Amino acid sequence: MENEKRKIALSLIQPSGTITLGNYLGALKNWVDMQEKFDCIFALADLHTITVRQEPAKMRKNILDAYASILACGIDVEKSLFFIQSHVHTHAELAWILNCYTQFGELSRMTQFKDKSAKHADNINAGLFTYPALMAADILLYQADLVPVGADQVQHLELTRDIANRFNGLYPNVFKVPEAYVPKTGARVMSLQDPTRKMSKSDENVNGCVHLLDDADTIMRKFKRAVTDSEAVVRYAEGKDGINNLIDIYSTITGLSREQIEKDFDGKGYGDFKAAVGEAVVEHLKPIRAEYEKLIKDKAYLEECYRKADDIALRISQRTLSKAKKKIGFIL
Ligand code: TYM
Repeated sequence: MENEKRKIALSLIQPSGTITLGNYLGALKNWVDMQEKFDCIFALADLHTITVRQEPAKMRKNILDAYASILACGIDVEKSLFFIQSHVHTHAELAWILNCYTQFGELSRMTQFKDKSAKHADNINAGLFTYPALMAADILLYQADLVPVGADQVQHLELTRDIANRFNGLYPNVFKVPEAYVPKTGARVMSLQDPTRKMSKSDENVNGCVHLLDDADTIMRKFKRAVTDSEAVVRYAEGKDGINNLIDIYSTITGLSREQIEKDFDGKGYGDFKAAVGEAVVEHLKPIRAEYEKLIKDKAYLEECYRKADDIALRISQRTLSKAKKKIGFIL
């Protein structure tokens, strides 16, 4: 974190259940790669998870599982900050402030709010509505340049930029205006059972979603059952959502281009292709799962990692929070 000239990459993930292949390919894989080039700041967005009801014991388990899983993916605590959002009180504090610089109309337009309020019609709470202001606080507190996310978070990033620009317009030079960093492939991994919908932890059909910690047989079974089409030709084309999704997953994992994949599977059936995608995913996730099994047994080590990062995050974020408060007119 010493090198002043490096850009800052920052991102968070909700620890609300097991991490999915979508989370991994859309965001986490980039987090790992970005550590070489950027000063990286990552965190578990546990404050965001309570916009949906959580069971306390399960929530505690999910947070530790997510922390261990993300370390297992290759986040290196010697290179990057990796903390827990709720341990760093500046996030909630700046979120309140930013709420007062965010318009009702802007929040009403967020597609994630519309989707989630349709899904949880019995609990459309204010936190669900103002969630993007907390996300803006997460980002703006650290003067981040780049935010590696999947396509579904781009709208929230645009709102973050609007909030930052509005604030800076009133009180100059408080926030860096960040940019989204969306991967070319893997930004939108779709459900294996309904490839018109995003792969999601909350998928009702268990076969639609691959989890980072699924065992090899489960992963193979899910890919073998993946919904495709009746053309039986492995090519990327409009209307072939299932195959397009499998090609994208395979491409993101192997680094092969779409064209190369079409060539390699020319004349082969969907059965072969699905098995190849499944095997590539199994092989890629195998070391991650092994590392997770090791890390999750060492709670003391996990705690040492996040406590250290929490303290540093608090120090860094306090600078921006104080600056914002002073400019607004608070007495510090
Ligand atoms: P969350 O926890 O839903 O997802 C974490 C990351 O995974 C990406 N992602 C996907 N990418 C590709 N295909 C999919 N099917 C898929 N599903 C999820 C998401 O785009 C995200 O990058 N609000 C955020 C967490 C957050 C945050 C932040 C992110 C809180 N504060 C500040 C960036 C910066 C969320 O709920 O992500």
